[in-house]
Formats: sequence, C-alpha cells, structure tokens
Amino acid sequence: MNALVINCSPVRTGATAEIVKIVTEKLSTKYHTKCICIDDYTFSFCKGCRACHDTAECIQRDDIPLIMGEFDRADLIVCVSPSYWADVPGQFKAFIDRCTPWCNTHEPHAAVDGGKRGYAIALRTGPGMKECERIIQSLEHFYGHLEIACCGSLGLCSVEYKEDVAPRRDEIMAFCDKM
Ligand SMILES: Cc1cc2nc3c(=O)[nH]c(=O)nc-3n(C[C@H](O)[C@H](O)[C@H](O)COP(=O)(O)O)c2cc1C
Repeated sequence: MNALVINCSPVRTGATAEIVKIVTEKLSTKYHTKCICIDDYTFSFCKGCRACHDTAECIQRDDIPLIMGEFDRADLIVCVSPSYWADVPGQFKAFIDRCTPWCNTHEPHAAVDGGKRGYAIALRTGPGMKECERIIQSLEHFYGHLEIACCGSLGLCSVEYKEDVAPRRDEIMAFCDKM
C-alpha cells in the first residue's frame, strides 16, 4: 500500500514540513510512503474557462499531471496545511482550482482510482480550533469532489515555527496510528 504526504505550505523547512516529516516517518513503518511539497511543482492558476467541463482536461500544460500521478499511485493521502489568512496557502488553493478536470460535479470528468482514503492536518499560530476546522473543511471539500473518502483530521493550534512541533509529536503519532 502507498501513502502520499503533502506539504501544502510553500515553506520546505517550517512547521508544516516538520509535521510532514513525523507523519512520513510513522507511516513508513506501515506503507510505502512518499512526501511532496506543493512548491516542488510549477503550475499556473485556473483560468476559469470551463473547457474541462466538456473535455475533462485542462488547456494548460504544466506540472499538474505530475501531482495527480502521485495521487493515482497513493492508497492513502495526507494533506498537511498551515493557516494562511485563515485558509490553505494560495499555492495549494491554486492547485485545488486546477483539479477542476477531476471534479465530480460535471460530466465528463477525469478521476483518480476509487478506494482512496484522505486525512487532513491543519496547523495555525493562533489559539482557536475554529480556524483549523475551516481549513480541514476546505481539504475535506476537495477530497469529497475527488471521491477520496475523508477518514480523519487533526487540528494543531499555537504552532508557528518548527520548534513548536516537537512538543506535539506524540499527538501527531497517535493520529497516525489510526491511518
Ligand atoms: C502569509 C501567512 C499568513 C498566516 N496567517 C495566519 C492566520 O490567519 N492565522 C494563524 O493562526 N496563523 C497564520 N499564519 C501562521 C502559520 O499558520 C504558522 O506559522 C504555520 O506554522 C506556518 O507553517 P509554515 O512555515 O510551514 O508555512 C500565517 C503565516 C503566513 C506566512
């Protein structure tokens, strides 16, 4: 079984990356696990042209198929997203928009293989869980339209820098135990 862990932040050495590292280490004991960062890829914004509603394909040629190839190979997907202005980072939102060819609200649409499980981890610097829940909702909305089953979520408040992650290690590991 394959697991894919996604750093939804453009920061490769921050708190999100640190959580991705812990999740990857833990899942590697059970799954063949790969981690990627949204910033590893180059892609343009969705133009909103809706050509994909008729063709199930985007008119733009860039790295989106590479990311979707990683989705295709994974049985389990874990998105780890920080709060940027109370939402997923712009880079990850741009990726979600570009997944419109795979969105199940129109026919024809492209599709990832069925039977995948999705997990969401949100982190933020502020103290309130509501903002983490909002990010988890965005990630679960995304999974839903790709027909990836939402199987669990974790919100981590009061996290700004990677040093803030070590005290939360047990919490993260316990969450991974359920995957
Ligand atoms: C552009 C930007 C916007 C942010 N907005 C929020 C916010 O609205 N609420 C919050 O609690 N934290 C906010 N943060 C803090 C991040 O969620 C927090 O530092 C997180 O650990 C960043 O992880 P990263 O460095 O791996 O991207 C913001 C950080 C950045 C860089």
